[in-house]
Amino acid sequence: MQIKDRADILEVVQDFLSLKKKGQNYWACCPFHNEKSPSFSVAPAKGIYKCFGCGAAGDSVKFVMDIEGLSYPEALKYLANKYSIEIEEDKHENLDEYKAQQTLRESVLIAMQFAQRHFQKLLTDDDEGKALGMSYFKERGFSLLTIEKFGLGYSKDDWHDLEKTAVKEGFTEEILEKAGLIIKKEENGKTNQYDRFRNRVMFPVYDLAGKVIAFGARTLKKDEKPKYLNSPENEVYKKSEVLYGIFQAKNDIRNSDNCYLCEGYTDVISLHQAGVQNVVASSGTSLTEGQIKLVKRFTENITVLYDGDNAGVKASLRGIDLILEQGMNVRAVVFPNGEDPDSYVQKVGGAAFKDFLQENAKDFITFKAELLLGEVKTDPIRKAGAIREITNSISKVPDAIKREIYAQDCAKLFTIEVQILLTEIDKILIQKGLQESKQKQEEQRRNAEKQKETKNNSSNFYFDDIPLPTEEYISNKTPSENAEYSAYNEDVSAEDIALFQKKGNKIHHAVAVHEKECIRLLLKYGSFLIENDTKLWQYLLAEINELQFHTPLYLQMLTMYKEAVSQNIVADDSYMIRFGTPQIVETVVNITTEKDKPSENWHAMHDITIPYENDATQLPETVFSHILRLKGEFIDNLLENLGLEIDAQHEENTEKIDELLTEFMRLKEIQKEMDKPLGKSMRR
Ligand code: UTP
Ligand code: MN
Repeated sequence: MQIKDRADILEVVQDFLSLKKKGQNYWACCPFHNEKSPSFSVAPAKGIYKCFGCGAAGDSVKFVMDIEGLSYPEALKYLANKYSIEIEEDKHENLDEYKAQQTLRESVLIAMQFAQRHFQKLLTDDDEGKALGMSYFKERGFSLLTIEKFGLGYSKDDWHDLEKTAVKEGFTEEILEKAGLIIKKEENGKTNQYDRFRNRVMFPVYDLAGKVIAFGARTLKKDEKPKYLNSPENEVYKKSEVLYGIFQAKNDIRNSDNCYLCEGYTDVISLHQAGVQNVVASSGTSLTEGQIKLVKRFTENITVLYDGDNAGVKASLRGIDLILEQGMNVRAVVFPNGEDPDSYVQKVGGAAFKDFLQENAKDFITFKAELLLGEVKTDPIRKAGAIREITNSISKVPDAIKREIYAQDCAKLFTIEVQILLTEIDKILIQKGLQESKQKQEEQRRNAEKQKETKNNSSNFYFDDIPLPTEEYISNKTPSENAEYSAYNEDVSAEDIALFQKKGNKIHHAVAVHEKECIRLLLKYGSFLIENDTKLWQYLLAEINELQFHTPLYLQMLTMYKEAVSQNIVADDSYMIRFGTPQIVETVVNITTEKDKPSENWHAMHDITIPYENDATQLPETVFSHILRLKGEFIDNLLENLGLEIDAQHEENTEKIDELLTEFMRLKEIQKEMDKPLGKSMRR
């Protein structure tokens, strides 16, 4: 538990998102779904986060699991690492055993880390590494500090150097191959294996959390192809989700609220060394949505830095439309002919480089319009094509006001009426709308509904002060004493039986609702006094003792609660968050931050009103009604099964049928008694 104690939710989340403080809590756009206004919140006092848009919720461990795609133990290890807490598995003695236990994913990560350290050592300590690798980096102007910061290394001119070293350390050939570090080939019935990276300088690729997940390896020979040899995709490396340098740059991206995007490994490194540290590289591939979302966690602003050759610029234009679609603000800069960001910054230095960006960065739409305009010269047909292309880009911008401004700027550039552009944009939007309408509208409607619901809830977010029980409340009678009702005597009709048989799923859903409510009341008001010296938890546990919870999750939570009670602990939400499984943590966060009123939905579904605890004096009634309902549903289930059983009997088996019917009617009477205090003649 030490790890969970140390992991400060704010610190953990801040490594991935930029949060803004509002009141007690911190807010950001949710990293787990697409949104424009922040509904993701962090409550440092509670140690939890919750998104009111998509419902993602949990503690620091859960957050790391979800954002990094880690398993529970992996997430704990991540946090242990972040807070430099020793965990036993890292000890060298049981390395073999440890490795065997790990999931493939983790094994690959360990192999990657091992390889990175190996390559780094070769660069600094090995004669060949020093002579070839280190001198290459020196020549490129990289300082020792920079080399260390990016974990650069060298791979020997040897077919088996890494393989041999790694195997000696206990890594299996299988893992090394899965990690893409060695290549296996079948030849004449014999397997041959050898190191993938040889005689190259090594650029490790880190993920957001600073783990090595791949390598880029540059040749030292003049015309060797490929110039850069990259790791293949594997368990931990999905090319389209990664940006080179994001780990080293993320804080600066957040602080400067802008991200420079360039093409190459060396661009990122040289810019860093020159003091421009909010920079990442797409590594020569065209941008993907995943990469853009990665940046969007830290800023809405991207400045694309283009090498000074036109081919590259044109090829990348499409990728930029993707950025626009994400609602981000894009600017672009082209370097002088023949220069890339690396060569240019080395030539002019950091300060002049920044000035250059300042003076030359253009809004992307303007940039593209000028570029297209430059090509069309005076040819009217090509001009029409260019206009179509630019309107296409503008139509990707989600914000209508921004679209209008862009249209005005472009109209000026192309010397045409702005209305023509706007009409064209509308056409594209309508067309697009038609194509996507069915699916998307449905989706939007659902989202809007969800948002509305969560907006209504946000006022109750993190109930800080629960009203204390009043004197009157404490001296109140027990709920069951309040309820006066008498037994009914009515015959059970065949229709009644048929009705029960139809209910099926609805009953089970209703059961889950009440089970959840019981858990919620336990966690939220467990130690409240219901009667002179009966606490809510005592009353509730005693009352539901004879019932079996049906929903596995709630059963698990109830069991956990009871276990705590047996150790004299009245569990509350923070207890469950500390000791619960990730699923429990998420559930607890969600149910304890839920509105204090039953949703309209709920009301409509069951056609009943439940007194609610806006006011603590109503608490006994609330608990009582949930218990009654739970019991009611329990009896419903029994009745349902009995109905089925009666149906299944052979007609002549009158004795058995009578017996079953008697039991049926007995239950039915109990049910009526229970319904009475709830005033729910409408329930069925
Ligand atoms: P460049 O060819 O522009 O290389 O490729 P560079 O970054 O300027 O490298 P230096 O300065 O010659 O050392 C841009 C990026 O494209 C990817 C790499 O990520 C490279 O940094 N690339 C390029 C490859 O993956 N494979 C290649 O063969 C070439
Ligand atoms: Mn270069």
